[in-house]
Amino acid sequence: MTENHTLTVRDNRTGEEYELPITDGTIRAGDLGKIGKTEDEPGLAVYDPGFTNTASTRSSVTFIDGDKGILEYRGYPIEQLAEKSTFLEVAYLLIHGELPTKEQHDQWVHEITFHTFVHENVKSLMQGFRYDAHPMGMLLSSVGALSTFYPEARNISDPTVRHEQVVRMIAKMPTLGAWSFRHAQGKPYVYPDNDLSYTENFLSMLFKMSEPKYDPDPRLAKALDVLLILHADHEQNCSTNAVRSVGSSQVDPYSAVSAGIAALYGPLHGGANEAVLKMLKRIGSKENIPAFIEGVKNGDEKLMGFGHRVYKNYDPRATIIKKACDDVFEVTGVNPLLEIAQELEKIALEDEYFVKRKLYPNVDFYSGLIYEALQFPPEMFTVLFAIGRTPGWLAQWSELVDDKEQKIARPKQIYTGDRRLEFVPAAERWANES
Ligand code: CMC
Repeated sequence: MTENHTLTVRDNRTGEEYELPITDGTIRAGDLGKIGKTEDEPGLAVYDPGFTNTASTRSSVTFIDGDKGILEYRGYPIEQLAEKSTFLEVAYLLIHGELPTKEQHDQWVHEITFHTFVHENVKSLMQGFRYDAHPMGMLLSSVGALSTFYPEARNISDPTVRHEQVVRMIAKMPTLGAWSFRHAQGKPYVYPDNDLSYTENFLSMLFKMSEPKYDPDPRLAKALDVLLILHADHEQNCSTNAVRSVGSSQVDPYSAVSAGIAALYGPLHGGANEAVLKMLKRIGSKENIPAFIEGVKNGDEKLMGFGHRVYKNYDPRATIIKKACDDVFEVTGVNPLLEIAQELEKIALEDEYFVKRKLYPNVDFYSGLIYEALQFPPEMFTVLFAIGRTPGWLAQWSELVDDKEQKIARPKQIYTGDRRLEFVPAAERWANES
């Protein structure tokens, strides 16, 4: 909703008053820059480390209302998409802005399915990694390397070229992710099976051994599909901001997305579900929960998988994941850590410390349990996140490329260093050293 109001600012340094337009609940940083600007002095700027209160773009991809626990992709509630859609349909929705017709859907699925193979030299490149290479390091390097296989991808102003790279990246991500997993296990890489659906093929490339054809359990494939949908976009998070920032230099999308993968690699972003798993294992049994909770309340440590910067009511993705847990455990048997997680959640949700601070389970509280039940080692959790987030990164990148208001990302700084020092050549400086 657009409301046009103004903000009157009085600069007490000069006594001057300025009227700044307010649009969509924001003022323009450029308007602030006119305040106090002289020939010698720059105008007023905003200091906002971490961009906690700065809008960097207009976007129509994802809507979040953190207080109400709402997440929508292109206006569709996440609950409905997770229950009734598929990851590839959601990917189409994110990229194109609307749901596909039957013909568009079939064409899209066909295109993605037939771009799952990668050049053999990509395989050789991946095989060159150390035996114990982290799969996220392998994924980000191999996605970056794809830019050298498709040099035309640089032509980002051509919609046909852009579309082709979007399809390639969504298609090849599971191949690269699965191969980075096989690599660490010393197992041969498995080629894509284009008879299978997106997630079935991913499971095949991950787990196929000597059988001529891998036969994925549809319930596991469905659960994985739901997990990918839940991770598909989350507006201007750290990795999406990295994709946009790097993409603003007009580099090719492989390089921009590899920057996003690098951002996701960090423990503050993609690594929390692994920490939840470690925490549950350390707690070990239900009897130890009260002592653990006391430790959290005393500030000794955090209850991992609880709390969120944006969601202050509940994380809608956590509710859906809880349901997916039941479906997966029906096939794999219950993960014994589930009992601890459920009891922990029950106690925490009744405890004043958590209630007062609006701390609820987030997407990571249960996802690690599912991933473990699906036999993924913890290092793979973030790779799964990256595969799911790829359509979101690409939708946000496409939006950026089309956005006439966007410029190369170049924040200001507040300089705190020395000025105008006199340079003494090294030989003179060192001659005086004792
Ligand atoms: N356990 C215990 N106390 C907590 C927790 C927690 N998990 N999270 C926040 N608090 C407390 C915090 O100590 C502070 O208390 P006080 O007011 O007494 O100082 C208060 O709640 C507000 O916390 P905050 O750190 O100001 O909140 P934030 O918005 O900066 O941090 C967060 C959000 C997600 C980083 C944080 O809640 C956290 O570290 N949670 C655990 C890690 C985690 O699960 N991360 C996954 C996030 S979801 C994945 C994604 O969407 O990318």
